[in-house]
Amino acid sequence: MKENEPTVIIIFGAGGDLTQRKLVPALYNLYLDGWLPEQFAILGLDRKEMDKEAFCQHLRQGIDKFSRRKLEATTWQEFAHHFTYVAADLTNQDAYDDLAHELGTFNQQWSTHAQHIFYLAVSPFLIEPITEHLHKAKLMQDRQRCRMVVEKPFGHDLDSAQALNDTLTHFFDESQIFRIDHYLGKETVQNILAFRFANALFEPMWDRRYIDHVQITVAEQVGVGHRGGYYDHAGALRDMIQNHLLQILCLIAMEPPVSFAADEIRNKKVDVLRAIRPIRSEQVPETAVRGQYGSGWMNGEKKRAYLEEEGVAENSNTEAFVALKLFVDNWRWQDVPFYLRTGKRLPVHGSQVVVTFRPVPHRSFPETAVETWRSNRLIINIQPEEGIRMTFQAKRPGPAMRLSPVHLDFAYQEAFKTASPEAYETLLLDVIEGDATLFMRADQVEASWKVIMPVLERWTANPPLDFPNYPAGTWGPEAANVLIAQDGRSWLQPDFNNH
Ligand code: BG6
Repeated sequence: MKENEPTVIIIFGAGGDLTQRKLVPALYNLYLDGWLPEQFAILGLDRKEMDKEAFCQHLRQGIDKFSRRKLEATTWQEFAHHFTYVAADLTNQDAYDDLAHELGTFNQQWSTHAQHIFYLAVSPFLIEPITEHLHKAKLMQDRQRCRMVVEKPFGHDLDSAQALNDTLTHFFDESQIFRIDHYLGKETVQNILAFRFANALFEPMWDRRYIDHVQITVAEQVGVGHRGGYYDHAGALRDMIQNHLLQILCLIAMEPPVSFAADEIRNKKVDVLRAIRPIRSEQVPETAVRGQYGSGWMNGEKKRAYLEEEGVAENSNTEAFVALKLFVDNWRWQDVPFYLRTGKRLPVHGSQVVVTFRPVPHRSFPETAVETWRSNRLIINIQPEEGIRMTFQAKRPGPAMRLSPVHLDFAYQEAFKTASPEAYETLLLDVIEGDATLFMRADQVEASWKVIMPVLERWTANPPLDFPNYPAGTWGPEAANVLIAQDGRSWLQPDFNNH
């Protein structure tokens, strides 16, 4: 840690899913690794009536189920000692005056002026009222020591994201606002920066002269689960493309930063978003494909259709799959397509970036030697395997000159013999340390909404006629294959053994 700053983390929505699944297990692992300050407290607020014991029990179950490391009874006791729970109506100013008082007692106990991190793990409609109340109660006044973490979805479209940014920046300084995109906390996603800018090998080839195209796939096997109520109003374009996939694209496409200062990296990423060629409405049909899963078989189990999921409207037109083709209009990337694809109920759980290089300019080998010839590829595996694979041609053993594709692999687990931290561990520690590099700045969020707005508007105005258009357990609708096949290319499925 930079400094062992006394810290209180105040979680709004502490009784909810995110706190139990992600936040507290991440804090527990940070605690085990000795990253948390000696003087720290976790103050949970939620409307649910619960005493501290019930609260701790709820969190303990979360750690049992979701923590990457097992719960140890003694450490848990010590860790739980740092919790406080307050049942409160988050829309009522009194709750914030009480909170101010509560925070004052920590300062007294610790004889210090602690930092305060307000984590908004709440429904989007609560963000604005909470912001106003925090402001009125003067709880975010100290710009150096008070921060706020805002979860996605950040807005519903460009206008609502702008309105939300206006509210937040009206009350607080941009440096106090940490907008989370948890993909940026993933080790493999961060490693894209290390890979590109700490090695001399690839950067000279990292442009339109050598790269044919880029594919970014985030495939999920799960359906919408219990989140149908939220998801049905969002859809895959808002839920995944607007944030996670576009952020990965930015890391692949950005120019080398001058330094690792938070704003320098974020400036370079915004440059990419602003360079993405605007999609004209009439181009949407050949540029973007949407899908919704019907029922289907996965691993010997029948999965129900999206329309039968809990919380989903029975005639819903919400997409659970998107494939999208984008261009980055700048010197480096002119005319190199970026194909993005994400969906639920796909055959595998796996996310990867595939950079396919151009063919060699002249093939000097006879046709018989190159039957299985393939372009060089760089595959960045984000999850569940974490690693990088480079494919190239090699001579097959034997008297004749015959070539075959082979690969070089780097696997995190093997190289470092240690498990990667969860994205939320990295991100929470960054908030505690006040490092905003991996968080979304206001202009970044707005720029990525701008990219998808033409698609969103066109799709809203023209409901799909073919939903559901892919069975659960398949790679999305046929149109997604056509989208890439019309350019003479095909999707690579995220599976290390396939390439
Ligand atoms: C979330 C989306 O942001 O990311 C979910 O809201 C999605 O719909 C999840 O399932 C995927 O995250 P991960 O880390 O499991 O790939």
